Amino acid sequence: MSAEDQKPRISETKDGSTTLYSPVFDQHYHNPNGAVAESKIVFFETPGLVEALQERDHIAIFEMGFGTGLNLILLKNYLEQLENPPDVDFYTVEAFPVDPETAAKFDFGDELKQQNPGKLLQSIFSEADPGTNSFQISEYLTLNLFIGPFDDSPKPDQPIDYFFHDPFSPDVNAELWTPEVFQRLKSYAEKSAILSTYCAASSARAAMAVAGWKIARAPGALGKREMTLASLDEKNLDGFKRVNEQRLADRYHQGDFD
Ligand SMILES: C[S@@+](CC[C@H](N)C(=O)[O-])C[C@H]1O[C@@H](n2cnc3c(N)ncnc32)[C@H](O)[C@@H]1O
Repeated sequence: MSAEDQKPRISETKDGSTTLYSPVFDQHYHNPNGAVAESKIVFFETPGLVEALQERDHIAIFEMGFGTGLNLILLKNYLEQLENPPDVDFYTVEAFPVDPETAAKFDFGDELKQQNPGKLLQSIFSEADPGTNSFQISEYLTLNLFIGPFDDSPKPDQPIDYFFHDPFSPDVNAELWTPEVFQRLKSYAEKSAILSTYCAASSARAAMAVAGWKIARAPGALGKREMTLASLDEKNLDGFKRVNEQRLADRYHQGDFD
């Protein structure tokens, strides 16, 4: 594949918001049924982040895979609707940054139009260098964007409250769904932290279980049956249906997911 053929291409999802298609991973960045709608359900509504943004003074978030930057734009939009927004530090990593000209064309629909996402993301992608980059996005929101593979990224300089685990799926992006990765995320986490992901694969849940996360299933977004929540303290998963972590960890060690 030539460098040009490897570049992610813009594609439209059913709610009118754009996403990208990655020829390298042969996968879309979001649910084709609606990029914005899916991100809201998986990362903001189901794990309780919408309420936390209203109640807390400070929140630290870690995102695996900055991709189109949609979650940053959504976060900025949520914060602007609050009378007393918390300070939010958003840590994210991206190994294959989008080129600024492509980012300029992003359109995340009417709800996020006032954020002018194309312009903001174009400037972030043109200014970001390999390694750690820090941007003051608004009075309340700081972006810490690491350009490079997660393996090379530094530990955030504060404990994380919410994890957006948003790589491509385990079949094509396996290196971000291992027990070692979830072990490392665990070392970043506050005891009350919640990790959420669109993924409901048993292999992914087993890797979390091996790393010592408590796990729950939640209804999936836009036609997907389930998504996954995880925490270090099972009290944070009250109200959700739990999975049997020990059984999944045993299956992992027996090689069921090799
Ligand atoms: C599903 S997409 C991300 C979606 C993104 N959160 C968004 O809203 O657009 C997965 C992202 O993970 C990135 N990625 C894949 N492997 C990576 C790695 N080892 N380290 C850092 N980023 C990686 C991909 O380049 C891609 O941008």
